[in-house]
Amino acid sequence: MKNWKEKFNKISVDKFDENVFNLIGNEWFLITAGTSDSFNTMTASWGAMGILWNKPIVQIFVRPTRYTFEFTEQNDFYTISCLEKGNKKILSLCGSKSGRETDKIKESGLIPVETENGITYEQARIVFECKKIYYDDLKPVFFLPDEIDDEHYPNKDYHRIYIGEILNIYMKM
Ligand SMILES: Cc1cc2nc3c(=O)[nH]c(=O)nc-3n(C[C@H](O)[C@H](O)[C@H](O)COP(=O)(O)O)c2cc1C
Repeated sequence: MKNWKEKFNKISVDKFDENVFNLIGNEWFLITAGTSDSFNTMTASWGAMGILWNKPIVQIFVRPTRYTFEFTEQNDFYTISCLEKGNKKILSLCGSKSGRETDKIKESGLIPVETENGITYEQARIVFECKKIYYDDLKPVFFLPDEIDDEHYPNKDYHRIYIGEILNIYMKM
């Protein structure tokens, strides 16, 4: 497996100047957790970036039914990989098939690359390497309107929110 140094440069958080609403909501990204021996990835389009406890953070939402959930639970780190344009097919595949039944890396053509604490892909343009610092589960509290609860949670499998401290940002050279 290639090392990130062959493909990416590191940039500091204050040099990152993209529109996160576009990056997360329109371009989508891959959440990958695990080690080079055993990892899984899935597509996500919900997330948040900002500052918490004076640290730069990324917040992700993973339903406990996802295979990826087993990896985010068992590992201290995860990566957020924003792919280069033209990779929507990969994102659709990784967002519709489960790693329980499918070798998504083989089927998608993703080429894994090792980062300092995780895995990303040659197809990535920007990668956030995160260390879990907090989690909580969404709850059907009174200000979550019934329509959202009914639409998204007919099985009451509320997303787990992970807050990850951004340790590194890798950008394609
Ligand atoms: C555009 C898009 C966005 C998605 N966003 C999320 C998300 O934020 N959280 C989540 O739990 N699942 C999300 N999913 C669903 C998972 O990617 C999907 O269930 C995937 O097959 C899970 O794979 P796994 O079982 O290998 O983990 C999204 C799917 C798509 C297509």
